[in-house]
Amino acid sequence: MDLPSKAGITVIPTGTCLAADVVGVDLSKPIGAATFKAIEVAWYRHLVLRFRDQRLDDPGLLRFARLFGVLDQAPIHAKGEVEDPFPEITVMSNIKVDGKPIGNLGNYEAEWHTDMSYNESTPIGSLLYSIEVPPAGGDTGFSNMYEAYDTLPAELKRAIVGLQCKHDSSRNSAGELRKGFKDVTDPRDAPGAVHPLIRTHPATRRNALFLGRRRNACIVGLPLDASEDLLDRLWAHATQQRFAWYQKWKVGDLVMWDNRCAMHRRDAFDPNSRRLMHRTQIRGDRPFFDPATLAA
Ligand code: SIN
Repeated sequence: MDLPSKAGITVIPTGTCLAADVVGVDLSKPIGAATFKAIEVAWYRHLVLRFRDQRLDDPGLLRFARLFGVLDQAPIHAKGEVEDPFPEITVMSNIKVDGKPIGNLGNYEAEWHTDMSYNESTPIGSLLYSIEVPPAGGDTGFSNMYEAYDTLPAELKRAIVGLQCKHDSSRNSAGELRKGFKDVTDPRDAPGAVHPLIRTHPATRRNALFLGRRRNACIVGLPLDASEDLLDRLWAHATQQRFAWYQKWKVGDLVMWDNRCAMHRRDAFDPNSRRLMHRTQIRGDRPFFDPATLAA
């Protein structure tokens, strides 16, 4: 356990590869500069932070998130009828009102991914606040992509220096086609941004494996077979349990993750139970790789 800081919070690591609880702060109240700094330092160290027993409405969630930067607009949804309550809030839910879904992803499993990596600029982080949770299932997994990069076999680590990957924007992490997009059969035809496979974190200067999502991904400049083979090897390595920690939700949990160095996924859950989460994302910048980090 980290010692209580002068900022009045206590940071308790999960003891796994990433994530920590932050205790002693009410996020609905104004956050002082020292407390904010301590939270930011803990976030960079642990990648994922959990604040339990919070009572946040949407303006409160947005107020806390804005301490970290400008917020992104919600992504394009698969179901046209979903209406988010604020432009910067995405509702994640399986609940239907009058037969219409009020949120995204339903009760489906969501595969490992990085939020909105298919855009030129990708969010630096996401905050997810739980309002209703199912009695079982719907756990959210997080995975440490610094560790995944650091532990790559040496030849694989060398092989990906300078390589870029295309990140498909046509489907969401549950595999649903987004509204207005066409189905893709060849990953090379997929729409989406191109980013380096090794991503340098601008604040920590550490390198992370930056994969986005597996479906319809391709490595720029490689024949399709070679691209598929390399991506399969990278994904098999990155998705090992030893890099992961799972959040079992309670109502009032606020979990924030660093999208630059952590991937996430979600377990499916019983469609007859209810799950309601509000998510917001901190606007980022273009992912980059700094070759100077390799010389260190
Ligand atoms: C997501 O942001 O991909 C979904 C996470 C969740 O619903 O737990």
